[in-house]
Amino acid sequence: MDVIPVTITSRGLGSTARRDVWWATPLAIFVGLSLFIVYATWAAFQNAHYTYGPYLSPFYSPELFGDSPHAWLGPKPAWIPAWVPFSPALLILPFPGLFRVTCYYYRGAYYKSFWADPPACAVGEPRGSYWGEGSFPLVLQNVHRYFMWIAVGFLFILTYDVWLALWFTDAATGATRFGIGLGTILLAVNVVLLTGYTLGCHVMRHIVGGAHDEVSKHPVCDRAYACSSALNARHQLYAWLSLFSVAFADVYVRLCSMGIWTDLRIL
Ligand code: FES
Repeated sequence: MDVIPVTITSRGLGSTARRDVWWATPLAIFVGLSLFIVYATWAAFQNAHYTYGPYLSPFYSPELFGDSPHAWLGPKPAWIPAWVPFSPALLILPFPGLFRVTCYYYRGAYYKSFWADPPACAVGEPRGSYWGEGSFPLVLQNVHRYFMWIAVGFLFILTYDVWLALWFTDAATGATRFGIGLGTILLAVNVVLLTGYTLGCHVMRHIVGGAHDEVSKHPVCDRAYACSSALNARHQLYAWLSLFSVAFADVYVRLCSMGIWTDLRIL
């Protein structure tokens, strides 16, 4: 067998022999994630226009404390000091937020696009050493396995929100009756996309079947593993679609609440 000698040369940041537009994907990810972070942070601090009729923005669900009829435990409690910025979203957004931040797909994406470590495959990076995810602080990314369970809990809560979004109160009579609005559909689509994202999580895949040495000997696990693997193959797609749907659901509820958009009633 012929041995072909290869010389490995250390290059500076951005140096590469690649001729394709390797920077386009990291740049698009940088812009997309930045826009989401800025909007989600702004929306979370608003503490207003997060409900419209039976709709509740997913950024604010579950509304533990708050002034809307969706609040589980009533208004803001007295033990929260007045000088602390309060919003129902600030109490719950860290959980789905950390679930995404520690996601295996997003790690690969933002390590490249935000930290340039490396900017892309076979492209020079700014650092000469790599500690890996076995060392502090990146070892903390392992909490993802626990946040997945919290994310599953959120799926049930958001599904309940879709159920509530089917019941509209008649302004004239005060009676509640079944209906479907565009907001109902947007909240439902958001749950479907979040479910596809969560059930295709690498941790979920391991739990439902991957932990077995021979998963084919466990029929139920084998089926569940196949389903989770199918979703996992599109994990990147679900990650972006669900990120967009959760933000757009908030935009829709917010603009309807502000009177800028009119909710389209289908039924
Ligand atoms: S790996 Fe992406 S959500 Fe778990």
